[in-house]
Amino acid sequence: MEILKQLESIAKRAEEEIGRSTSLKELEELRIKYLGRKSEMTGILKKLGELPPEIRPRVGKVTNEVKEKISNLLRKKNEELSNQIFKTLGESERIDITEPGNVPEIGHLHPITQMRMEMEDIFTSMGFTIVSGPEVETDYYNFEALNIPQDHPARDLQDTIWTTDGNLLRTHTSCVQVRTMEKLKPPIRIVAPGRVFRYEQTDASHEHTFYQIEGLMVDRGISVANLIAVMKTVLKEAFHQEIKVRLRPGYFPFVEPGFELDINCFLCNGSGCTVCKHTGWNEMLGCGLVHPNVLRAGNIDPEEYSGFAFGMGLDRLVMMKYGIDDIRLFHSGDLRFLTQF
Ligand code: FA5
Repeated sequence: MEILKQLESIAKRAEEEIGRSTSLKELEELRIKYLGRKSEMTGILKKLGELPPEIRPRVGKVTNEVKEKISNLLRKKNEELSNQIFKTLGESERIDITEPGNVPEIGHLHPITQMRMEMEDIFTSMGFTIVSGPEVETDYYNFEALNIPQDHPARDLQDTIWTTDGNLLRTHTSCVQVRTMEKLKPPIRIVAPGRVFRYEQTDASHEHTFYQIEGLMVDRGISVANLIAVMKTVLKEAFHQEIKVRLRPGYFPFVEPGFELDINCFLCNGSGCTVCKHTGWNEMLGCGLVHPNVLRAGNIDPEEYSGFAFGMGLDRLVMMKYGIDDIRLFHSGDLRFLTQF
């Protein structure tokens, strides 16, 4: 039968050509030639319906057998050629798709940022609003408006970095006090976290660039009792434990009376360690009742209103929380330190 001979010839030619092929590209061309839509084989399949019914089943069967034979030859040759390619690749070029991949490292927030966010949550839950101010400040908001006129000796308490145009890098977040009072009317309850700068030698507890959170509350009848109550609540929440605080008289021209607030060193339970420099206490913040001159600078009548303000060191808060004994680690970029948080 003519058609069976044709199939036999196709199978023979395909076997020879596939056997001779030397590349995957060549093999693909042969697949298209023998099994593709325009191949001889497809032509025979299309004409199957036109054959006399008595020979149709036999031709159909042989066609399928030849098709399967060619497919198998192609697959085997493909494996053979792929293995040859794989063997010729160097060790380093091999890809083991079963090998587990490298897990990408996921970054996280800096411990000071984490602490700032935590403090913001605590203060907002107590009804404070978060505000911010510029890092490059004017002499007026950093000093003058805070009751520190030109040539006042208190200017030397914080060594200042001046810009060439007579402005400065704010030495504390207290600049936000008068900026806020100019915009808001009492009752005022704000906190202003931010970066501050001092022209200082660094040591284990001092940085030239560090973070503070300023707080300001102004209303009728605000007293030191309110200040202590707020501070104790906030510190307890921040450290997740009961905190002992002590107030020492402290001089800041923008508050009267002024205090330094220390907390008991809970890392050593007051017995003395490197973090508290063997005193049992850690200085956390400066605070006091807002000076009448500062209220006046903010257009608030000191006869009617009073307020408290505080400025806490955010870096010191984190140090205390985790027992870190050197502030310089925060900006060291040392991942062995940073990845612990
Ligand atoms: C002030 O900056 C005042 N503005 C705080 C204040 C605000 C007082 C409102 C009264 C009313 P002082 O310089 O002490 O004060 O700094 C406040 C806190 O910032 C310190 O208690 C300490 O926790 C932190 N701090 C001060 N200097 C450094 C420094 N060089 N490095 C790291 N933290 C510091």
